[in-house]
Amino acid sequence: MDLGLRGKKALVCGSSAGLGFSTAMALAAEGADVIINSRDKKRLDAAADKIEKATGSRPECLVADLATDKGISHVTQEVRKDMPGGFIDILVANTGGPPSGRFMHFSHQQWKDAAQLLLYSAVRLTKAVIEGMASRGWGRLIYVTSVSVPQPLDDLVLSNSYRSAVTAFCKTVSNTHASSGITANCVCPGYTATERLQSLAQSRAEQSGTEPEQVMASMAENVPAGRLGKPEELAATVAFLASEQAGYISGSSIRVDGGIAKFLL
Ligand SMILES: NC(=O)c1ccc[n+]([C@@H]2O[C@H](COP(=O)([O-])OP(=O)(O)OC[C@H]3O[C@@H](n4cnc5c(N)ncnc54)[C@H](OP(=O)(O)O)[C@@H]3O)[C@@H](O)[C@H]2O)c1
Repeated sequence: MDLGLRGKKALVCGSSAGLGFSTAMALAAEGADVIINSRDKKRLDAAADKIEKATGSRPECLVADLATDKGISHVTQEVRKDMPGGFIDILVANTGGPPSGRFMHFSHQQWKDAAQLLLYSAVRLTKAVIEGMASRGWGRLIYVTSVSVPQPLDDLVLSNSYRSAVTAFCKTVSNTHASSGITANCVCPGYTATERLQSLAQSRAEQSGTEPEQVMASMAENVPAGRLGKPEELAATVAFLASEQAGYISGSSIRVDGGIAKFLL
């Protein structure tokens, strides 16, 4: 199926590795012109090399730390260069995850940092691109959240809280902008094999006095699919949500979790 993405301009944040990287790869493979972003130039260049090798098309690299005002301002300036409303057609708002831990573990400053990383980055990136999308009558806003939104996890209180806010933000933007040809959706990964999952397994292993490998194995056992997710599976879902064919899907949260969320809707 041709997803109709040839020539579309896509900004995929947090994409030197993990879910963002696989998403950038999937969009580039569909012919989109991709901009990738992370905090680390070396990792970003290596990611660009891999995408170029696989697709023949080299993504532009945008080094910026989305946990800082300075980093977000840099990205917003770049995407509005020569076009005040922004030239991006597809925004994939994604970053690394906040630290894991229970409620009493975190200081006020850590709550503020997580808000900046997860919520304000999504809000400001959306603001930077949405006017251009509306003026062209086409846009795709896709927010990477987590299965911890529909089913909060005790040791991910920062993630649970701010990703729920992102979900409410996404739904509101969908309400107000779907008539301009802009869809806004969230994708909710379950346990997916990336660096982030390894670090979560490490911290759970330290808490429980076991080994990270054991934690990973028990995560996989608890998934009805009987295994961890692959980043490419999440990426394929994002690519579909970005497609022409997905133009009537808006305001939704799509779980890519091997069935781990234990409720109906
Ligand atoms: N994997 C899972 O099982 C899972 C499940 C649910 C939700 N999630 C969430 O989905 C998101 C992506 O997950 P992942 O597993 O792909 O994470 P990951 O393996 O940690 O990769 C995160 C990516 O984001 C970049 N990044 C981190 N902090 C950044 C910042 N402040 N500004 C810009 N880029 C930044 C990293 O690159 P640099 O280090 O080069 O900056 C890397 O490319 C995370 O928020 C995670 O919490 C993941």
